[in-house]
Amino acid sequence: MKKQLLMALVCAMLLAGCGSSDSSSDNGSTAATDSVTESVTDSAAESEAPPQEWDSKFVQITDYPSLKDAYAPFFPIGCALSDKVTSSYEYAELAKQQFNSMTAENSMKPENGMDASRGRNLPDKYVDHIPTKFNAAFKRPLEFAKENGIPVRGHTLLWHNQTPEGIFYVNYDKDTGELCDRELMLKRLENYIKDVMEWTNENYPGLIYAWDVVNEAIDDAGGIRKSLWYQTIGEDYIEKAFEYARKYAPEGTKLFYNDYNTYQQRKRSDIIKALKPVVEAGNIDGVGMQSHVGTYVTPSSFADTIKMFHDELGLEVQITELDVECGNGDDWEDKQAEYMGKLMKAVLDLKAEGVPITSFTIWGLTDDMSWKKDNKPLLFNSDLSRKKIFDAMIQAAEDAKNS
Ligand code: G3I
Repeated sequence: MKKQLLMALVCAMLLAGCGSSDSSSDNGSTAATDSVTESVTDSAAESEAPPQEWDSKFVQITDYPSLKDAYAPFFPIGCALSDKVTSSYEYAELAKQQFNSMTAENSMKPENGMDASRGRNLPDKYVDHIPTKFNAAFKRPLEFAKENGIPVRGHTLLWHNQTPEGIFYVNYDKDTGELCDRELMLKRLENYIKDVMEWTNENYPGLIYAWDVVNEAIDDAGGIRKSLWYQTIGEDYIEKAFEYARKYAPEGTKLFYNDYNTYQQRKRSDIIKALKPVVEAGNIDGVGMQSHVGTYVTPSSFADTIKMFHDELGLEVQITELDVECGNGDDWEDKQAEYMGKLMKAVLDLKAEGVPITSFTIWGLTDDMSWKKDNKPLLFNSDLSRKKIFDAMIQAAEDAKNS
């Protein structure tokens, strides 16, 4: 019990130290809260069994510099974690060494929170309330985060992907049912968000410091994506989702809109247009730039986008899913590292100017785990050896501290 109370305290303190939309307090170091996290983790480690034998297929990591320590004066450094990471000793040790924020890569998406088949079996009972399951998959990353004192970015409440299609149909059956009307879908939406917020707050108090409330609502062709959320509720489903999230989220939880290719001018302006009413209603805290990039995205256009979201909307910005596609040629690793160094410098320069960049997440641990593994886009090789891109990220923080 003592450890759990300590963990809730740690996460509450870390919440206070990160994610603030006030640029002045946002520049505060998280070093203090990191030391609290480490002390709790250390004491937790002391009270546990001696460390497992290190599998020789992995390189030793004990002499690695830590990203979370290097970036402590700036913002938390996160990682998308899968069960493969949280259930393996060596992967988990590297994740704990490097990161002070985590995002469940898949486990907390609607497909693991919504129980559409139960709705199909009992449509009258669940007519306006999507049954929830919060299955073992949903819980595993939260258990890992709680045990290790790592605050969580909740990903994601609403998306057009990895969402059981049946929830949009009155009888929960996409083959035989009719689509829900606006009124019914709004009730289902509100009840789902209420259930997620209440369940996570009851079982993991203080652990989730931010939620991706709506993910990828802007279409690549421009305008609002014509998803089933749009088709049933209408264009204002984005505003309604944030209204419900603000209504039920625990005090202090930061609410984000999250998307990719945000540096494309048309998409960027469509995002700004779509979020203006949400900002006016006071129901959003930030924009998540997924940042699945390559050298084709110039650091200056990346930085301009961060600045525009802050200047035009007054919001904080989080980098939520960074990976950097390697190019071709024998020198791809050098080019990837050089690009990362320039990108991090552009981000840290904005941070130094007071732009509220409040967390920075890498979308995976080792290249072989990446959704884009053929592009080798992450910081570590499959044997946990460091890549030059990792060293470049560390160096960028050191340069910023010495500038
Ligand atoms: O869990 C099943 C497993 O049982 C099955 O054997 C296996 C083979 O079919 O598939 C497994 O599910 C896969 C899931 O990842 C878990 O590994 C899905 O097929 C696969 O499509 C899914 O991919 C995820 C993708 O989102 C889905 O759209 C990626 O891991 C994940 O990195 C990616 O993340 C998204 C963000 O959530 C939003 N931004 C874009 C980003 C990249 O697409």
